[in-house]
Amino acid sequence: MKKLRAEVPGAVYADAGDLLFESAVPRKGPQGAQAELKARTLARGEELLGAAARAVGARDLALGPQFVAETRGNVPLLDAGGTKVPGASPALLVKAGDVPVGLLAAGLASDPAETIRARAGQLRQQGARAIVLVAQTPGGWQEAGKLARSLTGAVDVVVLGHLEDPATEPDRADPGPPPLLAVEGHGQSLLRIDLEVPPGATRGVYLAQGEAGRKAELKELDDRIARMRDQVRTAPEEMRPLYADKVRELEQRRAQAASAHESVPVGALVVTATFIALGPGVPDDAEAHDLVAAYDDQVTQMNLRLAQQQPESCPPPRRGEPAFIGVSSSKPRVKSCAECHETSAAFWAKTGHSHAYDTLVTARKQFSLDCIRCHVTGWQQPGGVCRIDRTQVGGPGFAGRGKGRQDVQCEMCHGPASEHAKDPPGHIAAEVPANVCVRCHEAANSPHFDDARYRPFIVGPGHGEPLVAGESPHPRASGSGPNEELKASMKGAR
Ligand code: HEC
Ligand code: HEC
Ligand code: HEC
Ligand code: HEC
Repeated sequence: MKKLRAEVPGAVYADAGDLLFESAVPRKGPQGAQAELKARTLARGEELLGAAARAVGARDLALGPQFVAETRGNVPLLDAGGTKVPGASPALLVKAGDVPVGLLAAGLASDPAETIRARAGQLRQQGARAIVLVAQTPGGWQEAGKLARSLTGAVDVVVLGHLEDPATEPDRADPGPPPLLAVEGHGQSLLRIDLEVPPGATRGVYLAQGEAGRKAELKELDDRIARMRDQVRTAPEEMRPLYADKVRELEQRRAQAASAHESVPVGALVVTATFIALGPGVPDDAEAHDLVAAYDDQVTQMNLRLAQQQPESCPPPRRGEPAFIGVSSSKPRVKSCAECHETSAAFWAKTGHSHAYDTLVTARKQFSLDCIRCHVTGWQQPGGVCRIDRTQVGGPGFAGRGKGRQDVQCEMCHGPASEHAKDPPGHIAAEVPANVCVRCHEAANSPHFDDARYRPFIVGPGHGEPLVAGESPHPRASGSGPNEELKASMKGAR
């Protein structure tokens, strides 16, 4: 925002809502305590961003209206029709440079179209040259689209602030009118809206493609052309002319797209949307960095304190059900995976899974309940680990990895194996289908997961494939993993 404001002095930042919590249902226990601390931190972050408004979504209300009011700091709240929050307004007039812009939020009360029209009318009377509606519709994109179409002429832009599943919903734009825009969840991008207000009265609204949109279109065409050219080279002889035709057609389309001029309707309000990816290219702000560091420290202290009130170990498994035993054993006479499967263990020690806990330590997040479950083994499971300060308990590990229940050990893929270890070779699954991987490799934490591309990093000679004489176990693909760029971004952004 600092960079943007330097470029565009009139820039106004508003939060479209559902900022504070990941769910409208409050969490309990230590997880709830951390969620509350995080919400307070996020609210403070909005102040640092200089937010001109923050819409109150259903998820923001998880701890009730008083919590929202108490944490707002100096940020004006926009009421979206949910539980009434003290001090929240149904409409705000903000200044983008010299241009008064009306902000509204809606979606949580039933049938709000009429109310919105009335409020938009009032804002225009107060001088608003453009009206932006934040939609907090429980039905997400679909419902927001319906609401938007019922408001043509009354509002100029609709921004969806509630995603059904923030992990999987990408950036989106629909021309409308009015244009409907949605920004990827989990803080993965920022939506910049440029408004070009015509002199005199505005007639209609127009979503322009803009420089970024044009570049994206050209790039997509270039990619398709490159793929078709590959086909021309590699396809069976008789198919090649077909692909050659396709290449020519795409090249024509590209030439048209490159020279096309957008014709903006006379008198229209021109809206240009740019989605700014918050990846490694965006540096840390010093104040924001300190805020996050303070949060990490508080989380650590709080979770270590709360852990002491919890039992040492997880509840035992139900009768007949297997428990986690870990890659190594803490009891001298009990065998564990590494002893009977030394080759697999040596292989595993060369994969990223064997230092997943270190990764959290480096990021200073090893005591965060938001992170632990995918970076250790058997979190909250019988035989696993239930206390954040007990991950190191349960065996020395193998080759310096997998101490206790730290790291992504064998059983996270093969399943809890106490029964197998007592009575091998049964009670265990050799096959590990992709649905096991995506429990952890889900959209929010592994957005580029592709089973075929990832698998060579975790199987190979010595694990899933035979070793030839003299060969030592090693993954098929090596290096530090398939997603260097992503990793760089995670290291920076988290
Ligand atoms: C007491 C020895 C012993 C222990 C402990 C042990 N296994 Fe095994 N396991 C075997 C034997 C023997 C086989 C069959 C031969 C083989 O595939 O190596 C086997 C097979 C397997 C298989 C392949 C199953 C199949 O159908 O091909 C997997 C996967 C496996 N073990 C995982 C584990 C994991 C994970 C652990 C630790 C949690 C573990 N084992 C602990 C002895 C053991
Ligand atoms: C318990 C959660 C979990 C499961 C299940 C899981 N992973 Fe991972 N995976 C992780 C974590 C965490 C990392 C990051 C490790 C690190 O800190 O570098 C990771 C990293 C990876 C990497 C990058 C490794 C490297 O060498 O840098 C690959 C490839 C991968 N996983 C493939 C898979 C595949 C394929 C499956 C299923 C067969 C799978 N994973 C199952 C949690 C999991
Ligand atoms: C739902 C499971 C899950 C949760 C929760 C999770 N992670 Fe991960 N994490 C993964 C997986 C899977 C990868 C591997 C991603 C890939 O390579 O595609 C990963 C990779 C990483 C990496 C990059 C590791 C590297 O160097 O290769 C970092 C850093 C990281 N996680 C930190 C965190 C932090 C901090 C949190 C908590 C805020 C967290 N993770 C929560 C599953 C998870
Ligand atoms: C990221 C997931 C993952 C982890 C972690 C993992 N495995 Fe595997 N394992 C697999 C996959 C995938 C296969 C190949 C199965 C197939 O052929 O479909 C496999 C195969 C096996 C096999 C049977 C084939 C063989 O090479 O003998 C054994 C035994 C085994 N694993 C043991 C282990 C042990 C022991 C560990 C921990 C030291 C471990 N695995 C960690 C995914 C994993």
